[in-house]
Amino acid sequence: MSLFDLYFKSIYQDRWPLLQSSLLAEEMKTSRSCFEGHASYYMDSASILAAAALGVQPGDQVLDLCAAPGGKTLVLAEKLAGKGLIIANELSRDRRMRLLKVIEEHVPEKFHSLIQVTGYDGNQFGLKKANQFDRVLLDAPCSSERHLLHEDPSMKDWKESRTKQLAMRQYSLLCSALLSVKPGGVVVYSTCSISPLENDGVVERLLKKKEGTVELDWIVQEDEASKVSGIEKTSCGFQIFPDRASGAGPIYFSRLKKIRS
Ligand SMILES: C[S@@+](CC[C@H](N)C(=O)[O-])C[C@H]1O[C@@H](n2cnc3c(N)ncnc32)[C@H](O)[C@@H]1O
Repeated sequence: MSLFDLYFKSIYQDRWPLLQSSLLAEEMKTSRSCFEGHASYYMDSASILAAAALGVQPGDQVLDLCAAPGGKTLVLAEKLAGKGLIIANELSRDRRMRLLKVIEEHVPEKFHSLIQVTGYDGNQFGLKKANQFDRVLLDAPCSSERHLLHEDPSMKDWKESRTKQLAMRQYSLLCSALLSVKPGGVVVYSTCSISPLENDGVVERLLKKKEGTVELDWIVQEDEASKVSGIEKTSCGFQIFPDRASGAGPIYFSRLKKIRS
């Protein structure tokens, strides 16, 4: 048994064999046409739910901190309904190019000015743009076990230190997201990891360290939630894992409200 198997078996116990085989199955993507008359984008229904959980309203100033390739940016842009602004930020130059292409192909030209693509390290936003956004999406870089398993089903190179290191990076990005949102504003933290350290673990740490400035906000967009089966509540958010969600996910998300700066 690999270290990967042992680690996740100790977490998921009897559930692990089914969860593991569902991660190895083909991904379930649905086609989403965010703008009428424009090309559909294929994405996981659980990813759409996570992006919609931000509750973007027309006129909002939105930050999409880790945006490429851009599926969730499209969902946020759809919800703006032609008014407001999205800063779609992505550190990697190559992935930023993909993001620009996705926007060009899937968003009508008249709405292009509503999306500004930037290439900063997401950790800088908190200090440089403190208290500026109504809503911030942090779809964080994560272990992405489903993709890792597809690349190497034996997972011979997997180490526990990898998920611990990612949890630290995610926590730092989440602090930046929280700083950059206005008091009263909303942050959605999401990953496609099944590691609790990268999910509830990151949010629990934030709630503890920033006590009094942030709280959990359990709102889910019912229209999008009705399209996804097997949504499970966790201690700080929701998870949609493929063994219980007819192949969708894995996605974790937590919605947070900033009470004060
Ligand atoms: C999970 S992916 C985002 C997926 C995207 N939200 C979507 O729906 O298509 C995470 C992204 O974060 C980017 N990234 C990693 N570290 C970053 C950082 N410090 N600042 C900004 N982006 C970063 C990665 O290059 C990657 O494209």
